[in-house]
Amino acid sequence: MSVILAIESSCDETSVAICNNGKITANVIANQTIHENYGGVIPELASRVHQQNIVPVIHQALTDAKVSKKDVTAVAFTRGPGLLGSLLVGVSFAKAFALALEVPLISVNHMHAHILAHFIDDPKPQFPFLCLTVSGGHTQIVLVKAYDSMEIIGETLDDAAGEAFDKTAKILKLPYPGGPLIDKHAKNGNPLAYKFPEPQIKDLNFSFSGFKTAVLYFIRNQEKLNPDFIEQHLDDICASVQHSIVQILLNKLKKAAKEHGIKDVAIAGGVSANSGLRNGLQALAQEMNWNVFIPAFEYCTDNAAMIAIAGYHKYLVKDFVGQDVSPAARMIF
Ligand code: KG4
Ligand code: ZN
Repeated sequence: MSVILAIESSCDETSVAICNNGKITANVIANQTIHENYGGVIPELASRVHQQNIVPVIHQALTDAKVSKKDVTAVAFTRGPGLLGSLLVGVSFAKAFALALEVPLISVNHMHAHILAHFIDDPKPQFPFLCLTVSGGHTQIVLVKAYDSMEIIGETLDDAAGEAFDKTAKILKLPYPGGPLIDKHAKNGNPLAYKFPEPQIKDLNFSFSGFKTAVLYFIRNQEKLNPDFIEQHLDDICASVQHSIVQILLNKLKKAAKEHGIKDVAIAGGVSANSGLRNGLQALAQEMNWNVFIPAFEYCTDNAAMIAIAGYHKYLVKDFVGQDVSPAARMIF
C-alpha cells in the first residue's frame, strides 16, 4: 500500500499530486499569472507566490484524492533543476511534512519526471525508448533505458525550444508565456509563408539562439517596409515560426532514432503541448513506422503528477533521501 504526496515548485507552477498505489488520484496546479506583464518569470515573485499557494494546494490535493495526511506513506519533491527560491519552498515543505508524518522523503529530478509522465496512463512505452524533452529551460534527446537509467544523447547548446517560442513571441509583442499563443495563431496561418534558416549543428545537438535573431532581423526589415507588418500577418508569422522550430526538432529526432535503431519515440515537457509538434510527430511516425507516445495536455507543462509517478517508482525500490537534502538549481541529469 502506498500513498505518495508529491510537490512540484521548480518554476512558476505550484503543484501537488497524490499517487495511490501507482494511480494518480489528484493533480492540483496553481498557475502564477503575476509574470504575464513582465515578459518572463521573475524569480523573487515566483517564490513568494509558491509560499502563499503551497498550503491550500496541499489541502486541495488531499481532498481531491479523498485521503488524509495520516494516509501518506512518502513525500516526493522536485529537487531541481529550477529556480532556487522556488525549489526552496517545495523542498522545505516536503522535508517538514515528511518529518512530521515520520515517512520517507523521495527526491525527484524534474527532467526525469517529465519523461516518466508517460507512465501515468496507458499506453506506456517499453524500454529502451527515445524521448524528446522540450521545455522552457531544456531541449534534450534522451535514451531512456529504465526508470532510473537515462542518457542525454543530444541537447541544446544555447536556448531551449520553449525559449525560442517565448522569445519570438516577445518580438511579436505577445505576452509571456508566448508558446501557447504562437500555437493558437499558427492554427489560422500558412506554415510556408516565411522561411527561417535551420541551424547547421553537428551530432544530435540543437541551437536556437541564431533562430531567434533571424526572426528579429526578418521582422525589423519587414517593419521598415510596412510598420503594421506584425498585426497584418501575425497568423502567418506564427505558423511559419512554429513550423520551422518543429522541423528542427523532428529532423534531429529522426536522426537519433536511426542512429540508435529505436522505433519507440516519445515527447515530453511544456513544448510537447504544441499542436504543430504533436501533429508533425504523428505524421513522421507513420512515415518511419514508429510507435509514438504523446502525453495528455495536463502532463506536458509542469505538474506534480509526473513527480508523483517518478516518486512511486523510487518508492518501490526504497530509493529515499535524508533530511540533509537541499534544492539543486542545476541538478545533474
Ligand atoms: O515544462 P514547462 O511547463 O516548464 C519548464 O520546465 O520549463 O515548459 C514551459 C514552456 C514555455 O516555454 C512555454 O511557452 C512552452 O513550454 N509551451 C508551449 C506550448 N505550451 C507550453 N510552446 C509551444 N506551444 C505550446 N502549445
Ligand atoms: Zn518542466
